[in-house]
Amino acid sequence: MINRDLQAVGLDIGTSAVRCVIGEQDEEGALNILGIGESDSKGLRRGIVTRSNAVVEAIKKAVDEAERVSGLEIQMASVNLSGQHLQGENKSGVVAVAGAEREISEEDVERAIDSACAIQLPSGWEIMDRLPQEFIVDGQDGIIEPIGMRGSRLEALVHVVTSPSAGGQNIVKAVHNSGLEIEQLILEPLAAAAATLSDEDREYGCAIVNIGSEITSLMIFGRGAVQHTAVFPFGGMNFTKDIATGLRVSIPDAEKIKKRHGCVAGYLMDDEEKQELIEITPVGRTETRQLTKEILTDILHPRAVELLQYIAQEVANSDSQISSGVILTGGSASIKGIVEIAEQVFDAPTRVGLPHEDLFGGLVDELQRPDWSVAAGLALTSLRAQLREDELGGKSPGRKVAEWFESFRGKFR
Ligand SMILES: Nc1ncnc2c1ncn2[C@@H]1O[C@H](COP(=O)(O)OP(=O)(O)OP(=O)(O)O)[C@@H](O)[C@H]1O
Ligand SMILES: [Mg+2]
Repeated sequence: MINRDLQAVGLDIGTSAVRCVIGEQDEEGALNILGIGESDSKGLRRGIVTRSNAVVEAIKKAVDEAERVSGLEIQMASVNLSGQHLQGENKSGVVAVAGAEREISEEDVERAIDSACAIQLPSGWEIMDRLPQEFIVDGQDGIIEPIGMRGSRLEALVHVVTSPSAGGQNIVKAVHNSGLEIEQLILEPLAAAAATLSDEDREYGCAIVNIGSEITSLMIFGRGAVQHTAVFPFGGMNFTKDIATGLRVSIPDAEKIKKRHGCVAGYLMDDEEKQELIEITPVGRTETRQLTKEILTDILHPRAVELLQYIAQEVANSDSQISSGVILTGGSASIKGIVEIAEQVFDAPTRVGLPHEDLFGGLVDELQRPDWSVAAGLALTSLRAQLREDELGGKSPGRKVAEWFESFRGKFR
């Protein structure tokens, strides 16, 4: 049954752009995208708010645009949680099954997850998400849904993601100051995964690599669950700075050159393209200079290899199987040649992750770019959460969300 009242909004607050996606459930259960909005972002450093007012303005602009396109009013959104200090750890917790019949209840599962998450955190740090991987009942592992099973010993394996609380608090504040409520904060790579991965990718194992402007997040999936999370303090801005330094041009010029002519794999260009001339204006000069595309590629290639090697090393250290390969999302997945270089560095099949056509309808063509994956995934996750609440609660989704939000706000006060 379609519930037309369900409005799902994703708000991706990034270092270079704020993006908003609004949709509703369609006949096939996909997210029918009705409006999108994008604005240039200032006021963040590596995904963390540094100038709240600038962030509020950027949010308002992106939201206004999505409202205008859709003709709808946005009150609440699911928002990305980012920042270079996010980190994941795998934990386990054991409890004795409580009931007389030894039938595992929801409470037993909750207690097992709580016990896995009972970790010592540095002061000012907080658990941002608890992602159950599997349960072990009396030694039998690989159990996904233990409720209703019989047993006496229940063990939960949980991927716990932590981060300094301040990052989340400042995002919450900026969103509130722009006049919106927050439905959920969702880990940025988890949102990118929601929009782009198939069940098979999650099952057989894959690495989603979201390369933004100043940070890159990595999430490894396997056996249907998150196995590893890491964030690196680099992204597309490193390429821009290399161009600015190497060619002595301004950062805005370097950004334009990168987007228009940038390529990180010289072997993808034939001789003619290599010799193609690019016109640049060095800083402090009025006359232009010319250089070949090959020179630009020589600047970008080593940086691409270096950054990807860093990530590949993290994947190797995590001892994960990534049979479904590597999925690149984020704006920097658009740079020419990055898929080919990643394929070599990771020694795994690599593709660009775009919002999946089976999961989205409506304005989906406008979102066929890897930098829309996070916003699309946030909206999709919101829709799914509301449908679940609807099914479970019997209460109206808005009411349940409002209640949930109250408890959530308490956490971030
Ligand atoms: N066609 C393109 N070629 C090369 N780089 C591109 C292209 N399009 C976007 N980028 C780069 O992608 C980056 C922005 O990506 P994205 O929008 O995913 O980042 P963000 O979410 O704003 O930032 P972050 O996630 O780091 O907070 C910028 O560095 C931009 O230069
Ligand atoms: Mg981002």
